[in-house]
Order: sequence, then C-alpha cells, then structure tokens
Amino acid sequence: MVYDKNTKNLTRINKLNLTDFRNHSYSSITTDKDFILLTGLNGSGKTNVLEAISMFTASKGLRGSSLADQSNSNGRGGWSVFMEVHSELGNLKLGTGINKHDLIKGKARQCRVDGTSYKSPKIFTNYLGLIWLTPQMDGLFIGQRSDRRKFFDKLINLLETDHSENIKNYERLIMQRNKLLTRLDVLEDNWLDNLEKQIAKLATQIFISRDLAVNKINKIMEEEVRSNLFPSAKIVMREEIGNVNLDLDMEQIEENIKNLFFESRKKDKATYKANFGVHRTDFTLLYKKNNMFAENCSTGEQKNLLISLILAEARVFQNNNDNLPILLLDEITAHMDNKRLTNLFDQISDIGSQTWLTGTSPDFFAHIRNKTDIFDISNGKLI
Ligand SMILES: Nc1ncnc2c1ncn2[C@@H]1O[C@H](COP(=O)(O)OP(=O)(O)O)[C@@H](O)[C@H]1O
Ligand SMILES: [Mg+2]
Repeated sequence: MVYDKNTKNLTRINKLNLTDFRNHSYSSITTDKDFILLTGLNGSGKTNVLEAISMFTASKGLRGSSLADQSNSNGRGGWSVFMEVHSELGNLKLGTGINKHDLIKGKARQCRVDGTSYKSPKIFTNYLGLIWLTPQMDGLFIGQRSDRRKFFDKLINLLETDHSENIKNYERLIMQRNKLLTRLDVLEDNWLDNLEKQIAKLATQIFISRDLAVNKINKIMEEEVRSNLFPSAKIVMREEIGNVNLDLDMEQIEENIKNLFFESRKKDKATYKANFGVHRTDFTLLYKKNNMFAENCSTGEQKNLLISLILAEARVFQNNNDNLPILLLDEITAHMDNKRLTNLFDQISDIGSQTWLTGTSPDFFAHIRNKTDIFDISNGKLI
C-alpha cells in the first residue's frame, strides 16, 4: 500500500492526567511518541491508565465499570481524567469526570471539550476514535453473544457515527414494547403500531450501518496485506431478523420489518421478550485458511483473529485518510511469539495509529524502542 506520511491524519494523545482515578491519586504523562508503554508489576495500575483513556468514548470504559468503582477508594470521592489531543482538528483539551457530590446523587459524568461542557460523552467521538483489546476479550468468541455484539457494534460505530445512539434508542423502544405487550389484552393497539413503526425505522438503520461497516472491514481483510502474519478472516453476521431482503429500498425494508414485529406479537407476549430483531444479531469471524469459525479455533488463533480485525478496522481509516483511531493494547504480548509481535508493531507503524501498551517487562518491546516512551508504574504512581 502506498501512502504519503504527510497526508495521514495522525491523532496523538500528548498529555494525560489522572486524578483520583482507581489507584492513581495523581498521575501525569506527557509524550510525543507513537508508542507508549506502561510497565510495572501486577496490580501497579497499568490497565487503569488504559481504562482512563477509554472513558473518552460514548459509553462505559474498557472494564464496563460504574463511575463509583472508578473513584479512588483512598481519595476525596469522584475522579477526573484530562487529556490533550493533537489531530487534524488542531490541539484539543478533553476532560471527563465526576465530583463527589454528583457521584453520591448518581448523576452522569461531566464531559468537556476545550472548556465547553457537553451532556453526553458522545461528543468525544467527534475528536477521537479508540479501539482496545484486553486479556478478558480472549474469550470473546466463546462467551456471551451480547458481549460480542457490543464489541462489534463499537467497531461499527467508529465508521458509522450514529450507530451506538440508534442502538440505544432501539433498545429503549423494544423495552417499551415488551412492557406494553404484557399489559395489553387485545393485540390491536395504536400505540403498539406506532412503537413498531419507530422500531422498524431504527432497526433498518442499524441493519444498514452494520452492513456498510462490515463490508468495508471485510474488503480490507480480503485484500492480501503484504507481510501480514495475522490470519485472513471475514466478519460473519448471524441475523435473527427473518427474511428481510436488504436489496429493497429503505421504506420497503422498514415496512417488512414492521410486519415481522406485528406477526411476532403473540409469541413475544407469551415469552415476555422480542424474539426477533437486530438486538439478537450475533457476530463471529471466519478463519479463511481452514474455513473455521472463530469459536472453533484455538485460543491463540482467536486472539490473532481479533488482532486481524482491529488492524483491518484501522486500515479502513488509513485508506480513507480519516483521523486514525488510537489503539489500547492491554498485555498484548501474552501468548504471542516474537515474530508475530514484531509483525504487529510493524503493521501498526505502517498504519500510523498511536498505540498505548502495557507489559510487565520492556523486553518484549525492544523492536519499537526508539519510537516508544516507557513509563514505569508502581502503586498507582509513575516512577
Ligand atoms: N477504585 C479504586 N481505588 C483504589 N484502587 C483501586 C480501585 N480500583 C482498583 N484499584 C486497584 O488497582 C489495582 C489494579 O490496577 P491495574 O491497573 O488493573 O493493574 P495492572 O498494572 O496489573 O494492570 C489493584 O491493586 C486494585 O486494587
Ligand atoms: Mg493489567
């Protein structure tokens, strides 16, 4: 692939401050490097730093924790994370956090961009894309379908920016429909008709966004990336949306989905749930070499498939010259041979995404030493 380094839209976190976040009372990192490595013993607070960065997404961070759990147990109550980001949009100051008072009241966290407050962390996705891999995700393909769906939908949201919002609204309406179905004696109702109309509209958008994004990523994974040691794969969606034909125009798709919801009213009422819809879609990867779905591959192969996937996603941005996502790779060296690791770092360097890494020892990272800032952490402090 030919690219011009000057035209690439490199997004960089240049400064990161954690205040009372997890076991960090106050930690400040300044960097101008492509790779940032956090080292230290188990439990020193490395993943906590990645988690702090991951708060600059539309939903919960990489642990999916509550705001209260993130608040330093020896602190003053509440926490904040601040960062300076350099991108094609210029230099930006991003901040998020919650004070003690709001935490007790169960309020939402505050979100700031260059001093202006916003209601929702969705604002951050205008400025920054984040992709993370953690050791917990090693079991993604054999674990719960909903975790898998959330992970893939997050990747899709990076390419289709209203996707997560549509899903949130869709799920809210599905819950309203479930409640309404339990209450109704006769399954003919204007309110229900109206709800299903709105649900069908959102379902269509979700369906189409998934289709578009998955095709973009699959196209990259199909192309042979030169000297890529990670497996060639394909995202496969297992839809539970009945016989909806995507080749129709949008109104017709909506109409078909609406009819399917209408037809499943009786069953849905009896089972207290919506038996069909985009909230039931499952995602997996097909390992092309041996025509095997990810859930049947070895643990090591599953991890490599995940890496193939995130590299492909980042390459979509690289090819479009869009603001590159930042990668957070937690303990990525575990169970990975040196040759693959070197190849992973070479590919990331080629793409140009700034990458935050954790590891117990800097030894595995010798290959990227001159592009890396290393921060040693002990007991929630940089040393
Ligand atoms: N809210 C909190 N307040 C203080 N310490 C916390 C909080 N949440 C987690 N911790 C501590 O953070 C440490 C784990 O940090 P982590 O970043 O996961 O370590 P590692 O360096 O192994 O990645 C544990 O010692 C845990 O007790
Ligand atoms: Mg860790």
